Amino acid sequence: MKTRKIISVLLVVALMMSALVLTSCEKEEDVLTVYTNAEFPPFEYLADNKPVGVDMQIAQAIADELGKKLVIKNVKFDTILSSISSGKGDLGIAGITVTPERAESVDFSVNYATSTQYIVMKKDAEIKTIEDLAGLKIGVQLGTTGDFIISDEISGTEDEETGEHIKGVLEGTGATVTQYNSAADAAVNMDSGKVDVVVIDMLPAEIVAGQYDNFKAIELVYADGSKTDESYAVAVKKGNKELLDTVNKVINRLIEEGKIDKWVVEHTTQSSKG
Ligand code: ARG
Repeated sequence: MKTRKIISVLLVVALMMSALVLTSCEKEEDVLTVYTNAEFPPFEYLADNKPVGVDMQIAQAIADELGKKLVIKNVKFDTILSSISSGKGDLGIAGITVTPERAESVDFSVNYATSTQYIVMKKDAEIKTIEDLAGLKIGVQLGTTGDFIISDEISGTEDEETGEHIKGVLEGTGATVTQYNSAADAAVNMDSGKVDVVVIDMLPAEIVAGQYDNFKAIELVYADGSKTDESYAVAVKKGNKELLDTVNKVINRLIEEGKIDKWVVEHTTQSSKG
């Protein structure tokens, strides 16, 4: 009698435990994993050690639409796209500029914001165009479009059809590029004189420039007047049409409701305080 009782108690405990395991597995499936790099205010930055910002609100809206729990992974910017194309993460939301090269490895949602590159410099610097960066030490965030533009202008590029070398506007001028893990990191090194300027997207540039009394930021323009127009979109694993459709639906709704503009203003104010 007694052993029977013990056995049935054990059985009940085992059942309860397997039920627990099952529910936690189920929960796992109900998660939306978003990869970001929280070094890019107002789109993503840390507040009390938690990633917040415009992109994180977009991420939450998508998770809500899907009825899933949002999990944010804060990683280095240049690793985000490979984590999405490998299926490690569901979405990359990190102020990611759509480029033809990137579109080969992931699918992009509709655009939700636009930007251009900016040059952060000391207030007394008389730089007007990218050509004025000749011979200077230029800081960028590794793997960003600012990095690509400056690196290409320093080393030159190749004509895709003829393979002919196209001279960069900074080529042979002695200009150098230093890649940092964040714009904030680059700014610290500009403050100490290790680099002369920092090239990064508009809003992060304005915010970081505002954090130093002797910094200013101007738009990056070429001597011929051309600029670097960029659009931000959410990265989805190639071919995941169902998720992409939901992301597009949510973004279109947020734009229509004026939410994204509102969040940009709110998070610019909030992240500028720090
Ligand atoms: N828009 C630029 C790019 O796509 C910079 C993005 C950096 N984003 C970030 N969260 N650090 O390359």
